[in-house]
Amino acid sequence: MEQEPRAVRFSQTTLTELMIPSYANFGGKIHGGILLSLIDKVAYSCAARHAGTYCVTVSVDGVDFLEPVEVGDLVSLHASVNYVGRTSLVIGIRVIAENVRNGIQRHTNTSYVTMVAKGDDDKPTVVPELLLENEEDARRFLEAIKRRELKESYRDAFDNAKTRIDVQANLEKLSQQRCVIGWDKNDI
Ligand SMILES: CC(C)(COP(=O)(O)OP(=O)(O)OC[C@H]1O[C@@H](n2cnc3c(N)ncnc32)[C@H](O)[C@@H]1OP(=O)(O)O)[C@@H](O)C(=O)NCCC(=O)NCCS
Repeated sequence: MEQEPRAVRFSQTTLTELMIPSYANFGGKIHGGILLSLIDKVAYSCAARHAGTYCVTVSVDGVDFLEPVEVGDLVSLHASVNYVGRTSLVIGIRVIAENVRNGIQRHTNTSYVTMVAKGDDDKPTVVPELLLENEEDARRFLEAIKRRELKESYRDAFDNAKTRIDVQANLEKLSQQRCVIGWDKNDI
């Protein structure tokens, strides 16, 4: 049965968590894995609300940790459905770290998580269409289509990179890199 479209705001979700000392690495900053886990958690909550069913993570894009997050920061992850396909959803997540003592907020990264909705039979199941209520919603949907197209062409190029490289013909490239050839190049 076709479900009613659902608005972006229907499933918008914010998760706020205090960065406690046990989340820190040996350098005293927060482990990247802690943030990844929170990103996955908030993406799941947002996707499951929209889909009204259990969802699984298929891929995570755009996770670049450009600034460290400190112990004591309050990290808020704002998640919205950016795009829906037939059974998949792309959730955009904006991560903000706040220093509670001086009130300074830093946008640490934006990630895009693709989730797939699963039915009771554990097979991908159709999700409600997304109701776009303003130009911002439409812009995010269009951007997600563009990223999807870019990713598909990138995936083809990436797969070709594995199979199409002639090592002997490309050894010169390695001489400009920080690596050392440890075998006799004339041995074939
Ligand atoms: C996600 C999964 C259900 C897809 O299975 P599948 O047999 O490829 O199913 P389909 O071909 O019907 O694809 C289902 C949807 O996933 C999308 N999809 C599949 N692979 C994808 C990928 N690498 N990136 C983005 N979307 C992808 C398809 O485009 C399709 O979307 P649509 O229905 O909106 O068009 C399956 O790969 C799976 O269960 N993976 C494990 C997920 C999991 O356990 N995650 C937690 C990891 S710890």
